[in-house]
Amino acid sequence: MDSESLTLRPFRVSDVDDLMLWAGDEQVTRTIRWKTITSKEEALTFIKEVCIPHPFYRSICIDDRSIGFVYVIRGSGADRQKASMGYGVAAKYWGQGIATKTVKMVISEVFKDFPDLVRLQAVAVVENIASQRVLEKAGFTREALLRKHSFLKGQLKDLVIYSLLSTDSNGAVDDEV
Ligand SMILES: CC(C)(COP(=O)(O)OP(=O)(O)OC[C@H]1O[C@@H](n2cnc3c(N)ncnc32)[C@H](O)[C@@H]1OP(=O)(O)O)[C@@H](O)C(=O)NCCC(=O)NCCS
Repeated sequence: MDSESLTLRPFRVSDVDDLMLWAGDEQVTRTIRWKTITSKEEALTFIKEVCIPHPFYRSICIDDRSIGFVYVIRGSGADRQKASMGYGVAAKYWGQGIATKTVKMVISEVFKDFPDLVRLQAVAVVENIASQRVLEKAGFTREALLRKHSFLKGQLKDLVIYSLLSTDSNGAVDDEV
């Protein structure tokens, strides 16, 4: 993968066919809460009703073609200092550093765009070693094992929680992206 061609941009309706290739793949959806997308109609509804209206739901693109997603959800009120992140990459691109580069790009963008953001966090099911590795490579700190925390595809799972603070030495730095 030519890392220069990796970009993050808002989703477009025209991403529908590319999105179906990964959002319709159980290898990608197995470890996230999404239901696997099974029709073009569902994919279009997802792009129009979830991705486009969302303040930070980005398509991970190679040469402007969608190969994955990353989102950041900011808290509000007493949680306004923190945000949660989730991501996924089409299986055929796994193991090329794409998720790690994506997370580093998100870090530099969100801490710049939201100067009052202090904490960026992410959780992964304990079996999802690849995702934990991504967060570690991007400079996140593993904080805790959250026992029997959430249902995933009908099974109650242990989650691992990671965070990066704006004050961490590798937070908000973009020179290693
Ligand atoms: C998790 C995911 C995003 C990783 O994407 P990716 O682009 O392959 O990630 P990277 O290439 O940046 O890094 C993956 C790392 O995990 C490692 N890894 C992958 N599978 C592993 C395993 N079973 N055991 C140990 N390490 C593993 C890779 O070797 C690599 O680490 P390295 O660079 O030290 O060798 C991708 O697997 C995915 O989309 N999974 C489905 C959706 C998902 O789980 N999203 C995260 C929800 S929390």
